[in-house]
Amino acid sequence: MSLYWRIFLLNAAVLIAAALLLLGPVTVSTPVLFAEALILLAGLAAMLITNAVLLRIGLAPLQRLTRAMATADLLRPGHRTAVTGTGEIAELTRTFNAMLDRLEAERTASAGRVLSGQEAERRRIAQELHDEVGQTLTAVLLQLKHTADHAPEPVRADLHQAQETTRAGLDEIRRIARRLRPGVLEELGLHSALRALAAEFSTSRLGVTTHITPGLPQLDPATELVFYRIAQEALTNSARHSGARTVELHLRTTPGGGVRLLVRDDGRGIGPAPEGAGIRGMRERALLVGAELRIGPGPAGGTQVRLDVAGSTTEHRPREGAR
Ligand SMILES: Nc1ncnc2c1ncn2[C@@H]1O[C@H](COP(=O)(O)OP(=O)(O)O)[C@@H](O)[C@H]1O
Ligand SMILES: [Mg+2]
Repeated sequence: MSLYWRIFLLNAAVLIAAALLLLGPVTVSTPVLFAEALILLAGLAAMLITNAVLLRIGLAPLQRLTRAMATADLLRPGHRTAVTGTGEIAELTRTFNAMLDRLEAERTASAGRVLSGQEAERRRIAQELHDEVGQTLTAVLLQLKHTADHAPEPVRADLHQAQETTRAGLDEIRRIARRLRPGVLEELGLHSALRALAAEFSTSRLGVTTHITPGLPQLDPATELVFYRIAQEALTNSARHSGARTVELHLRTTPGGGVRLLVRDDGRGIGPAPEGAGIRGMRERALLVGAELRIGPGPAGGTQVRLDVAGSTTEHRPREGAR
């Protein structure tokens, strides 16, 4: 039924009820007697209340739809308003749901394009850092060594110092390049890459432990990259924001036979902090491979990042390359 007829019929029902009452035992004198005025007022109040209640019921689907529109979040997809009744409101709900389908698909596709562009760009920068800056610094290092060998004694110590600084710079560039392009992921597989990542984040003030269940199903390369990048961001957040002493990184199976990544710290907890680019990036990456991401308090406080990918998207092929 259309909204117009729905409201019309609701009002008509109330008015007809009022008219029927007037045909009944009600009499109104002029001037109005006190008792009659009371009855009239009570009747009016009853009509208004009935009208309000009926309108509320009639417009409830519209309110549900408004709430769904206000809370729709493309980074948490899959929520749809139930289509109830017929007519304009049902049509509106169906159109809104179809629009969400389109927007979510488009969002996933464009996030995929952005992220693969970003990975390509990182790879290029890592390559250039390694090939251009790295080679130049290596050449400088050799020249310094050559000069130091022939330099008089007072200058030699300074030249050795310059050599050390250059070597440290070279190490730093290699480290940045490695972080930009997780080559270790391609070369050694996800498990070793995660262990290397954990080792990289371990310091004297923050202990990072890795717990990887043996015999996990093999993930496809795109999913592996998503697992790696999300672990990287989760560890970065624990190191940067949590003040934690320890972080645990787990890779295990989900009850449904999929693979689960857990990064748990014992820090101050994420609380109501607004999500920044880091967490949004994690959500976008998880959406890309159909994985489910949950960020919240851990079982023993602190913060826990949980990423689940269902068993069906994993391939059971021999685990080549994984240590
Ligand atoms: N492990 C954590 N412990 C405590 N707070 C956290 C943790 N991870 C994230 N946060 C909070 O959530 C906010 C958003 O994180 P994020 O989206 O990664 O942005 P950024 O790291 O750039 O600030 C952080 O600024 C921080 O306040
Ligand atoms: Mg961050």
